[in-house]
Amino acid sequence: MSVIKVAILGFGTVGEGVYRTIHSHQEELTAVLGKEVEVAAILIKNKNKEREISNAILVTDSFDEILQLPQLDVVVEAIVGKEPAVSYLKKAINSGCHIITANKEMFAHHGKELLKLAEDNNVSVGFEATVAGGIPVIQTLRQLLKINRVHQIQGILNGTSNFILTEMREKKQSFTEALLLAQENGFAEADPTNDVEGFDAFYKTMILSRIAFGEEPNWKDVELEGITTITSELIETAEKLGLRFKHIASISKEGSQINAIIKPTLVDKSHPFYHVEGVQNAVNIQSDIVGGITLQGPGAGMFPTASAVIEDLVFVCQNDTNNKISRPVANSFGEKKTELKEYWLVHGLTKKYLNTTVSFIQDVSDETYIINGTKNNVEQIFSLHKPLCYFPIIGEFKTLINA
Ligand SMILES: NC(=O)c1ccc[n+]([C@@H]2O[C@H](COP(=O)([O-])OP(=O)(O)OC[C@H]3O[C@@H](n4cnc5c(N)ncnc54)[C@H](OP(=O)(O)O)[C@@H]3O)[C@@H](O)[C@H]2O)c1
Repeated sequence: MSVIKVAILGFGTVGEGVYRTIHSHQEELTAVLGKEVEVAAILIKNKNKEREISNAILVTDSFDEILQLPQLDVVVEAIVGKEPAVSYLKKAINSGCHIITANKEMFAHHGKELLKLAEDNNVSVGFEATVAGGIPVIQTLRQLLKINRVHQIQGILNGTSNFILTEMREKKQSFTEALLLAQENGFAEADPTNDVEGFDAFYKTMILSRIAFGEEPNWKDVELEGITTITSELIETAEKLGLRFKHIASISKEGSQINAIIKPTLVDKSHPFYHVEGVQNAVNIQSDIVGGITLQGPGAGMFPTASAVIEDLVFVCQNDTNNKISRPVANSFGEKKTELKEYWLVHGLTKKYLNTTVSFIQDVSDETYIINGTKNNVEQIFSLHKPLCYFPIIGEFKTLINA
């Protein structure tokens, strides 16, 4: 029986998880692929670290040495940052290897060119692990997009932020205390900027946009806000209203325009994200035939992420060169609709600054109240009165207010 030879770049949380899963699930992989999967080489940075790796495997800090192996079919990339990851993957593609990556920062920046290069070289690209860890959101989208038209995706895409918001609400902790706990539990890095300022969710949203709509919005036009503005007081206020803060990435297409917003958002009990707690991730996909689908699960960690990579391994080996979504994604999604009015929780603005474009709905506490208006109306008021906070409320909140 012939063998599929794999190189793993990186032997940290993800790389080691992939290595161990290939061994623990060899029987299943062989049954599905009709060939054994063999880890032929592992790339690391620090050759002095102790690692539990079989002596039969080439462990090296030289990628060129890996490329010189007599047979190499798939390169799995699980290192950190844009470089040297993207250069290694380009070399791998040019050498005829399928590639799989877990590296969202690199893929958000270079995914388009890697997909094109792979297409030109008749190899496949797997990137399931770049978005929402173990949740099979990319494969679900690929499958749905064969016939459905996806018009909106919302996601809780950063487990660290969701963990911090959950701790702040459940244990009445401050942002700093909850962040420290996240770091102690290994859910947040020593430098948590990428997570708490929303960049990690931003990269994932751009990857989702490319697969769902075939393109990305202009990065500069994306409204991006992390969770650092959320205080214990705001969380308590929201709770009294039956609402919870979630860091939500929302991406939609209307007409030919893609809108992306990544910011703290209030959800009520009717919304599928209300009960998504701790390090969990969730993705809600709205499409024309099936309606709404919500996927929820672990967004990170050794084995959830390895699961996504292994699913990709099967995908790239079976599909061979299927980089593209099977049909072209529609360029235009119906007419651009008139902007809908939404509910907003507003904090830190004296009521007298509101104008007639929005309706005042309810006082919540001092300088905190609920208004109703379009996003445009609200943004205009707040552009004149910074720094203030306003958060969209999603779900069936209207019925709660009127009850
Ligand atoms: N952790 C998760 O749950 C998760 C989930 C989804 C996606 N991801 C993404 O997956 C990637 C890996 O994450 P991780 O958590 O596994 O990271 P990690 O634990 O920090 O491990 C990184 C690994 O990459 C190696 N490495 C770093 N730079 C290298 C270089 N220039 N050349 C060769 N090897 C290099 C390191 O080598 P040494 O061991 O020698 O230092 C280490 O083995 C990241 O892009 C991350 O965003 C992670």
